[in-house]
Amino acid sequence: EEPPAVLAVPQAGQDGLMLLRRVGVVDPASLDDYRAHGGYTALRRAFELGPAGVIREVTDSGLVGRGGAAFPTGRKWQATASQPDRPHHLVCNADESEPGTFKDRVLMEGDPYALVEAMTIAGYATGAHKGYLYLRGEYPRALRRLEHAVAQARARGLLGDDVLGQGYAFDIEIRRGAGAYICGEETALFNSIEGYRGEPRSKPPFPVEKGLFGKPTVENNVETLVNVLPILTLGAPAYAAIGTERSTGPKLFCVSGSVERPGVYEVPFGATLGDLLALAGVRQGLRAVLLGGAAGGFVRADELDVPLTFEGTREAGTTLGSGVVMAFDDSVPLPRLLLRIAEFFRDESCGQCVPCRVGTVRQEEALHRIVERTGADAAGDIALLREVGRAMRDASICGLGQTAWNAVESAIDRLGAYE
Ligand code: NAI
Ligand code: SF4
Repeated sequence: EEPPAVLAVPQAGQDGLMLLRRVGVVDPASLDDYRAHGGYTALRRAFELGPAGVIREVTDSGLVGRGGAAFPTGRKWQATASQPDRPHHLVCNADESEPGTFKDRVLMEGDPYALVEAMTIAGYATGAHKGYLYLRGEYPRALRRLEHAVAQARARGLLGDDVLGQGYAFDIEIRRGAGAYICGEETALFNSIEGYRGEPRSKPPFPVEKGLFGKPTVENNVETLVNVLPILTLGAPAYAAIGTERSTGPKLFCVSGSVERPGVYEVPFGATLGDLLALAGVRQGLRAVLLGGAAGGFVRADELDVPLTFEGTREAGTTLGSGVVMAFDDSVPLPRLLLRIAEFFRDESCGQCVPCRVGTVRQEEALHRIVERTGADAAGDIALLREVGRAMRDASICGLGQTAWNAVESAIDRLGAYE
């Protein structure tokens, strides 16, 4: 079943965009059009710089991961590039599944060659000759466009045994997910590619040392990789001058809920939440905004001056995550929303470890009792939620269980969800 046409990019065609500049402007099926709009200048620059030079630029740019965890990309690339064990692998994590996240889909549907070019650069810098693109199964249009882009790039010598005649071999294999949220966790994703159950592995060892098929692996999110293109074309200093000292560059935000113009927006780090909501047209009666998705936290309508940076949102007691901004007005029944989030985590827990497998069930049950008012003692259920939440956060193997209580906790503490 084909999903609706490409999601809204209200800024399409505007000057000054870096990541979205071609989305809605170029023909996503045309390699010539991509090149006419600056495509493949970054790869040429990469060959001039050499692998170490590319890693230096990425490090100096201050780029950190855009999947949600903000790990320094240059450090990750360097750590893999320096491993003596061979082969090295590159994995692009395109299993975008965080509720409210749709930025990678917009990039892949609107500018697929950009991802192909960026993966080629990442592979070149880190010594990989094969890149796996693990794509969310529910993105059939992105699949079609990426398959076409990979085939065209191969036919034109931009992938294959001798990329651009530079003696570097690189190719991309697309793998589709099958609908499990947990397969977006980087090591569960490796298991999925290898043909095993999508269960996270314990870290360390980190993938940079022992990743896909037990080999040194760089795994990056789609948006992270696409940032490498302006880093190489503009140069690291110009890129690092955008945003703030600790959160450099542009960032994509997925704005949804009680706004006039939902869609993907590109703003420099450091813009405030209020600035972003003004672009999207905030509606009357705004009550709260969920930042960072189901694993994130709420900010109140009187806290919209929070800067959209990794450090700013952390100080405000929430997270930027992968750029989810869900606005809720007074008409949204908050307890039901929290119950929906709890159902999601219970459903998506892989069941491998006890705190998460049992905790997500207990959390949902307690919220259900509160919502349906069947529990004799709501205060007791809230105390139980805190206890279960602490156990999940402290003892779960992976981020799913560790963050499954975040949104509920922040709704209780910051919004007074059940008062
Ligand atoms: P993490 O902090 O464990 O790791 C982040 C990255 O840094 C990983 O690639 C990891 O391998 C690497 N890393 C960490 N320490 C390292 C070290 N010492 N040496 C080398 N590499 C190191 O976070 P995780 O669990 O990978 O991701 C959690 C985030 O994912 C959350 O913040 C959440 O927002 C986000 N998320 C995003 C989703 C989406 O659809 N985009 C879905 C669900 C969660
Ligand atoms: Fe699986 Fe949850 Fe444990 Fe992660 S925390 S390994 S999703 S059971």
